[in-house]
Amino acid sequence: MGPIAPADLAAALGALRAGALVAFPTETVYGLGADARNPAAVRRIFAVKGRPASHPVIVHLQSARELPAWARRVPREAERLAEQFWPGPLTLVLPRAPGVDDSVTGGQDTVAVRVPAHPVAQQLLAAFGGGIAAPSANRYGRLSPTRAEHVREELGAAVSVVLDGGDCPIGLESTIVAFQEGRARLLRPGRITAGEIRALLGTLQIGADAASPRVPGSTAAHYAPATPLEVLPTEALEARSAALAQAGRRVAVLAWRAPQAALAAVTWIDASAQPERYGHDLYAHLRELDQRGCERILVQEVPQGDEWEAIRDRLRRAAVGAAAPGETP
Ligand code: TXA
Ligand code: MG
Repeated sequence: MGPIAPADLAAALGALRAGALVAFPTETVYGLGADARNPAAVRRIFAVKGRPASHPVIVHLQSARELPAWARRVPREAERLAEQFWPGPLTLVLPRAPGVDDSVTGGQDTVAVRVPAHPVAQQLLAAFGGGIAAPSANRYGRLSPTRAEHVREELGAAVSVVLDGGDCPIGLESTIVAFQEGRARLLRPGRITAGEIRALLGTLQIGADAASPRVPGSTAAHYAPATPLEVLPTEALEARSAALAQAGRRVAVLAWRAPQAALAAVTWIDASAQPERYGHDLYAHLRELDQRGCERILVQEVPQGDEWEAIRDRLRRAAVGAAAPGETP
């Protein structure tokens, strides 16, 4: 017996085998899963998310032993990362094995794979006995869900089964690493930091270049609430929230201390000064602020440093994604 109730496990397996979708918790965010060997099922993910078909999805595996079925070659550097960090919040982009469908890879010659550590994901993968293709279980371009209720609110009846594992422990998407001629390149920062990877491999290139596999999740506008969002240094945030509130506009603030303009028009959430906690709460906080019907979300700039990098990255994208086109704030 694992953490999934037997009836829920049976429903999830039945759905996967029938080509339907199952949302499940991972240590990072909730995934929207389909049988990775069933192209029609994988295409259903795209339809439900409203995501362009050219965007590849991550294949979740129960263990690294399944890699040969998905990757035709595993560079030594990738092996070392897998040994060190799997199961865990790390995705490796590898040359795809023959037979991995274009619906999974977006037609690219690479496939993204990850072995999640969450006990619910592990139990589901073990029982299913195959790869589960799963992007984050949100609509295209929106915030990733970190609770089962986020998935239900956003995707509703389109998902046959939602396995509830409570809050995702990390709350931000996995670190993604690709390899070119054996050289590792960080495509998306996450809980596993650039420093940790560099310590293991000796080198790491940062960010996509022209030759990198496409990571559409790294298009600037992504992970966004619907309300326009700005990231500001402390003093600028004080001034901006006061000015907006005085102009009679409702403002939502995510910061370490209440803006001095503690006005009725300002809704405020106290952010954690600890990066693990901040990351764990970030999407839930933004969802909550998004639902307050404010005209703007103001976020206090977070510190520099490796352990804040994934948070900085998601805030940057949220700011771009949430700004209305052509708008001058
Ligand atoms: O933590 C996570 O990674 C979560 C959980 C559910 O595992 N999944 C997730 O999936 O964030 P998604 O689809 O929202 O983001 C995956 C990113 C996308 O930006 C996608 O473009 C990129 O991985 N990706 C997938 N396959 C790729 C490939 N073959 N080459 C380059 N990037 C790839
Ligand atoms: Mg996503």
